[in-house]
Amino acid sequence: MNESFSTDRDRFSGRFAVIAAAAGSAIGLGNIWRFPYVTGENGGGAFLIIYLFIVFAIGIPVMTSEFVIGRAGQKNPYGSFKNLAPGKPWYLIGLMGVVAAFMILAFYTTVSGWTLEYVYQTLTGNLQGKSDAELTGMFDVFLKGSFRPVLWFLIFMGFTAFIILSGVKNGIERYTKFLMPLLIVLLIALSIRSVTLEGSKAGLQFLFNPDFSKITPKVILEALGQAFFSLSIGMGTLITYGSYIQKNENLGSSALFVCVADTAVAVIAGIAIFPAVFALGGSPASGTGLVFIVLPVIFQKMPFGQLFELLFFILLAVAALTSTISVLEVIVAYLVEELKMTRRKATIAATLMVSVLGIITVLSMGSLSKFLVFGKNIFGLLEYLTSNIMLPIGGFFIVLFIGWFFSPARTKAELTNDGKLKAGYFPVFLFIVKFVAPVAIAMVFLYSLGIFKF
Ligand code: TRP
Repeated sequence: MNESFSTDRDRFSGRFAVIAAAAGSAIGLGNIWRFPYVTGENGGGAFLIIYLFIVFAIGIPVMTSEFVIGRAGQKNPYGSFKNLAPGKPWYLIGLMGVVAAFMILAFYTTVSGWTLEYVYQTLTGNLQGKSDAELTGMFDVFLKGSFRPVLWFLIFMGFTAFIILSGVKNGIERYTKFLMPLLIVLLIALSIRSVTLEGSKAGLQFLFNPDFSKITPKVILEALGQAFFSLSIGMGTLITYGSYIQKNENLGSSALFVCVADTAVAVIAGIAIFPAVFALGGSPASGTGLVFIVLPVIFQKMPFGQLFELLFFILLAVAALTSTISVLEVIVAYLVEELKMTRRKATIAATLMVSVLGIITVLSMGSLSKFLVFGKNIFGLLEYLTSNIMLPIGGFFIVLFIGWFFSPARTKAELTNDGKLKAGYFPVFLFIVKFVAPVAIAMVFLYSLGIFKF
């Protein structure tokens, strides 16, 4: 056994557990809340095509590279880069990941709190019999009243911290294994109801009939940001999880599976939302509230709607939880391994810091909404900076590291488990991480800044 691969580190117990944990990280609000609203704001079908292209050309290679770095480096993102490139500045990418983790948690947990509010509102029956205008009003009033969103945020942060305290295997694994498949079944049921609503055809057309005149530099950057966000890549989440993966797991096929599953869930969420939006005569570009307003309308039109609605928002909260824990784990692993804190202390310290930023973020949707930076409130700013800028920059350097710095022999050893597996895709993978992915990320970036034109 490799010396750096000590046996006392917490590990995922096996094949299904790894995939479930990584899929649990990837599948979350990014697919069900963010994908529909960003797709809606960016014109639908053409956005979807660019998105799919980015997932396959850039997403899968970045995810695979993160797994390789984590399992070879055996630490948090900062420590893994230090291990694999001693004396070189690559660890800065890991550090940026830790900073991004704070920022993502602040707004992501805010939205996670909304899911709890909707669990509560379903239980009290308040969503029943409401028109979509009334539901829109409810959503706005909820956001503006500062107390409840802050409370739900703190409760959600508490759940996240609780699971992180119990450690990777006991905490993360146990919850992801069976709840994810259940969520997918529910989403499929919702999509069926949505496409059978009268007037829903226009929604399917919106999603699947690309109108290429809608493609602008902004649309492409949004697709890149959404792909990174949804796949949980570019921040070192999957470097951290990679470090918990056992030496006999197949990294390449795990990455492929997670990317396909994540994308499938996003598309199914799109099929659940857009047909209903058009059937109701709403606008697909109505922003962050989209699913919280549209889905309660569909539930009212389903048999046992209230029961399904309750189950749905609970499962959505769980899907969010398996994502928030994967982000908090990055900070905690960093504090434990680099600053030598106990897991307990690290979790408490990280949770307190995130909570301060998070409360400001929650309030930026309400009482602090007049406070704008670059025309965005704090929530929008954090979302934009992390998804569209920090994650792609992280991803750019991650593929550059594997493509140009790390030795291909070592990468191949990780991907084949020292020759025990076949990895026929290896030359293609290497070509993509050397050339295709970094060039594509750089082009999208420069293009969207107006520095580069096709
Ligand atoms: N991918 C998750 C989602 O779609 C969110 C998430 C978890 C994430 N870990 C991340 C996003 C790391 C960016 C980076 O809901």
